[in-house]
Amino acid sequence: MRKPVIAGNWKLHKTIPEALELIEALKKDLADKTDIDIVVAPVFTALAPTAQSLKGSPIALAAQNCYFENSGAFTGEVSPALLKDAGCSHVIVGHSERRQLFGETDELINHKIKAVLAEGLTPIFCIGETLEERESDAMMDVLKRQVTVGLNGLNEAQMLNVVVAYEPVWAIGTGKVASTDQAQEAHAFIRGLLAGLFSTSIAEQVRILYGGSVKPDNVDGLMAQTDIDGTLVGGASLKAADFIRIAR
Ligand code: G3H
Repeated sequence: MRKPVIAGNWKLHKTIPEALELIEALKKDLADKTDIDIVVAPVFTALAPTAQSLKGSPIALAAQNCYFENSGAFTGEVSPALLKDAGCSHVIVGHSERRQLFGETDELINHKIKAVLAEGLTPIFCIGETLEERESDAMMDVLKRQVTVGLNGLNEAQMLNVVVAYEPVWAIGTGKVASTDQAQEAHAFIRGLLAGLFSTSIAEQVRILYGGSVKPDNVDGLMAQTDIDGTLVGGASLKAADFIRIAR
């Protein structure tokens, strides 16, 4: 019922020629894969050339971040309107690296999600607890706060255009993937939060991705879970063979 999404977050990796080389390989091997949504998120400087290369391909383009104003005296920022102009259809918002390294708050993330939606783009809204929060039994409170504040003020139609990505911080780039039970439990909890904030029907339609050390050898177990609708892949999205295997 929910079309799976496999997204690759390239983080701060790859020059323009390297990005185009990876895109060539993905286009070749994933051209027929239209039963899932495939999204790639290169660095800002590679977005426009990558968009050119993706013309006619079902692979969608995402930015890794944005600001919430569309223009003005905001030195160093990039807006949803400019990302759309560069060829993006998606924007990753609230990644834990933005939260932890750049001080992004739930309120700021909420502004960004609204700005992305206002441009007709799809936010990939990231949430997730730290190891300390999980071990102190605060996981559910943290997820509830992130979801409630991050999605504050959205209506049901807007929510249908949001993709949620659950990424436990302790599983990102560590090789420690959440167990399928841990991931399913968190996803079911998040879907329950969406039902409470919006409606059961909306909660049933929103795609919730898992992120954190997803690899070719663990993706099948994760995707077999009822409430896992795809993956947000970091490290393994940098290698064509790994990302193609994950998508397939
Ligand atoms: O956005 C992607 C996540 O941060 C996961 O990264 O697959 O390298 O653990 P990872």
